[in-house]
Amino acid sequence: MSNIVPATPTNIARAAAILRDGGLVAFPTETVYGLGANALASAAVRKIFAAKERPGWDPLIVHVTGTDMASRLAQQAPPELTARFWPGPLTLVLPKLPGVPDETTAGRPTVALRAPRHPVAVALLAAAQLPIAAPSANRFRRPSPTCAAHVREDLGDRVDLILDDGPTPLGIESTVLDLTQSPPAILRPGGVSREELENVLGPVTLAPGVEDEVAARGLAGPGMSVKHYAPRARVELFESDAALRKRAAELTRAGVLYPQPETLFAQMRALDAEGVEVILALLPPPVGLGLAVRDRLFRAAGLQPQN
Ligand code: TXA
Ligand code: MG
Repeated sequence: MSNIVPATPTNIARAAAILRDGGLVAFPTETVYGLGANALASAAVRKIFAAKERPGWDPLIVHVTGTDMASRLAQQAPPELTARFWPGPLTLVLPKLPGVPDETTAGRPTVALRAPRHPVAVALLAAAQLPIAAPSANRFRRPSPTCAAHVREDLGDRVDLILDDGPTPLGIESTVLDLTQSPPAILRPGGVSREELENVLGPVTLAPGVEDEVAARGLAGPGMSVKHYAPRARVELFESDAALRKRAAELTRAGVLYPQPETLFAQMRALDAEGVEVILALLPPPVGLGLAVRDRLFRAAGLQPQN
């Protein structure tokens, strides 16, 4: 029997009870589907790492109802940021308070917090009355899931319940902003653009995230590259459509990807399902959400992001 259920009020209440009992629930956010557990329970959080086959060095995002819940987990976030971007696709890295388990933050002195705005995520947080640790609900190094079927494909019965509310509206993950650096640093470009952040904060930098640092230091372990968000096919990147078309004419089993943020990951999964050997992708300019799309395409190609 499938563990996918429609995100009705009854099923959301059931999901909240599972979370309070230390189980795993996949749920939609405005960005991608998340794999949630009680962020304050070490044993529950360990189940996330096991289900995703995610290495223990990669810390999780904790989803909160808003600034009240956030203030119990971390030092206060700049009010001008939370007032403008929460709820929404902005994750803030802040010094953590005692009580947030090491499992959640991978032993770091900081915690990543975000208040999602998807109505199902909002309702689940309200019903559970818990901070919910939730990475994207894909298997490690697979493209993030933008619908319930992707979650099912990657995690099967490793998750107790999958709340289905159709495709996620943004389709690309949240922006991760590190506020412990000065100036603040974007560790992962995402649903809130650099330009929007700079309008509020002044200049922000782009810095390597945890995954890049681990890859650079060679701590990822044997056989683990920077490859992430990756389809099974090889990915080749192009700055111009003319160059892409020229290459396409040379190949027989190639698929072409003109990425839109909303459908990027679903397009990668669909091309994989078609069994193409090579994906030829056109890079958008590095402005607005284009910065995040470029980042994911570089990772899918197994390259360090160059924005
Ligand atoms: O849109 C999203 O952010 C989705 C939805 C479900 O909210 N979540 C998501 O989580 O993409 P995940 O685990 O796939 O990506 C979290 C990113 C990782 O790159 C992780 O290294 C970084 O956030 N991160 C988490 N905690 C951190 C911390 N304390 N310091 C630095 N980076 C952190
Ligand atoms: Mg992820």
